Amino acid sequence: MVTEPAGVSRLDQLGRALRDLRISVTDRCNFRCRYCMPKEVFGQAYHFLPREQILSFEEITRLARVFATLGTRKLRLTGGEPLIRRDLEQLVASLAEIPGIEDMALTTNGSLLTPAKAAALKAAGLGRVTVSLDSLDDHTFQAMNDVGFPVAKVLSAISAAQLAGLTPVKVNMVVKRGVNQDSILPMAAHFRGTGVTLRFIEYMDVGNSNGWQLVDVVSAREILDAVGANWPLEPVAPTRPGEVARRYRYLDGKGEIGLIASVTQPFCGGCTRARLSAEGQLYTCLFASQGHDLRRLLRDGSTDQELSAFIEGVWGRRTDRYSELRTADTTALAKIEMSHIGG
Ligand code: GTP
Ligand code: 5AD
Ligand code: SF4
Ligand code: SF4
Repeated sequence: MVTEPAGVSRLDQLGRALRDLRISVTDRCNFRCRYCMPKEVFGQAYHFLPREQILSFEEITRLARVFATLGTRKLRLTGGEPLIRRDLEQLVASLAEIPGIEDMALTTNGSLLTPAKAAALKAAGLGRVTVSLDSLDDHTFQAMNDVGFPVAKVLSAISAAQLAGLTPVKVNMVVKRGVNQDSILPMAAHFRGTGVTLRFIEYMDVGNSNGWQLVDVVSAREILDAVGANWPLEPVAPTRPGEVARRYRYLDGKGEIGLIASVTQPFCGGCTRARLSAEGQLYTCLFASQGHDLRRLLRDGSTDQELSAFIEGVWGRRTDRYSELRTADTTALAKIEMSHIGG
């Protein structure tokens, strides 16, 4: 057998390399965002993963090493809420040592991102964080997170991340029609000139719990028009191929915003992202219904070569482009939940 040198990217059926790995470290969250973990579904009776089913830090690190040899250059830690996982900085420290990883980021709701935690994550080798915040208005934000969590604490988390140097800090705002549309302009006004990049996200039909309907989606076009009418914008070239957000810069030099238009302007063509769930299932699309069990291989004594060959095989067969094919029929298919796969 001819072995290729480490770092050579294998391509899927549509010619896309395996550049990014999104790692969910827990399926739990302390928020119950209506668009992600509605209380009716994720209530007292909901069965979260038991401890023994969740990958250990050692198992995650071993897998990430194998992914890096397959060409993965970027890691993103997600959840649920990733900071619920105790001592996450220990995992960050192990991942930071993997040769080939150029970018390591974390997506968090900010609730547990204290100045001390931010400093510890930075010291361990985390590059940057993205904090979710859907409104500056407490009434609106609390109706969305559904646990009464205040805006001020998320703003403190954003400041803590900036102070710790986990930059550039990005803020994710999911926009839902009739819920937080009024918050678009206040959010833009607030973050302009702060060095934080605000990204507006079209509400997506992830999972089967959030009761998604197309009428609830505020399109990126509408958002761009509204922001641009107040503060003129111009497009900026993508930082790298396959970037999720379309970037725009304020003409007055006060920074930039991003628009994540998965519904109205899908970006599957450049999708180089694989996803690892907390219990070690590999998903090749955010909207997949089926994963591929890596935990079994980790725990049955498979070698790194065997793991690598398995992942390569899965990736090589990949044809996913859900957002480009989305129809009323696909929306109704059984899909993995957002909180399980980390977005
Ligand atoms: P950057 O590296 O900063 O560009 O991060 P990111 O935008 O890839 O990650 P983040 O966790 O902040 O995700 C932002 C939004 O984009 C979330 O709503 C994700 O669910 C969504 N998203 C990320 N990757 C994909 C993808 O491959 N497909 C779709 N449909 N949505 C995605
Ligand atoms: N549509 C779009 N974005 C979502 N997120 C969670 N659920 C959805 C959804 N249904 C966002 C979170 C977080 C990111 C990982 O995904 O707010 O910022
Ligand atoms: Fe938790 Fe994020 Fe889902 Fe909200 S969107 S419930 S913060 S995982
Ligand atoms: Fe990638 Fe699937 Fe998202 Fe398309 S819908 S960009 S294939 S994760």
